[in-house]
Amino acid sequence: MTEGDLDQVVAIEQRSFPLPWTREQFLDELRSSHSFPLVAVAYDGVVAGYLCPSQVLDEGEILDVAVAEEFQGQGVGRLLVESALASFRERGVLRIFLEVRVSNQPAISLYQNLGFQKAGYRKRYYENGEDALLMDFSINGVEHAI
Ligand SMILES: CC(C)(COP(=O)(O)OP(=O)(O)OC[C@H]1O[C@@H](n2cnc3c(N)ncnc32)[C@H](O)[C@@H]1OP(=O)(O)O)[C@@H](O)C(=O)NCCC(=O)NCCS
Repeated sequence: MTEGDLDQVVAIEQRSFPLPWTREQFLDELRSSHSFPLVAVAYDGVVAGYLCPSQVLDEGEILDVAVAEEFQGQGVGRLLVESALASFRERGVLRIFLEVRVSNQPAISLYQNLGFQKAGYRKRYYENGEDALLMDFSINGVEHAI
């Protein structure tokens, strides 16, 4: 992801989430040495989706991911998560976390199909009182105690 992608990224973000990240939040991710935001580009610079991964030492986190409606169901989300996992592995990350709304079955299926496991719940984590499902992925299949 570059600053030039942000108009499209922010537009997808606003259509995807009730409390969307702002342009400034994406800029912070672009500037952070802990983060390496990714875009999936369909053609002619059209952004199909994006994913914001963050790393602290040997732990990674997927902070944000969305695919534009017109590109959903075509493997873009899978490609983005797989790319993030490959980059985390190259950077020496051992364990990756994410949070997802308990009602977001498409996203939960995506993560489970790629090897993420349910690790717990954060009660009333979202603005509407919905719980978050905490999921984790262990690089090389190494299991860790929470
Ligand atoms: C979740 C999201 C990123 C998936 O992206 P996508 O490009 O449509 O997903 P893919 O086409 O790569 O599908 C990968 C897997 O996701 C799951 N999946 C995707 N859409 C699904 C749906 N509507 N219902 C159930 N599972 C679904 C399937 O397990 C699928 O595996 P398959 O390819 O073996 O069928 C996309 O739906 C999205 O942007 N949603 C809105 C924003 C959001 O919820 N982000 C996640 C916040 S944690």
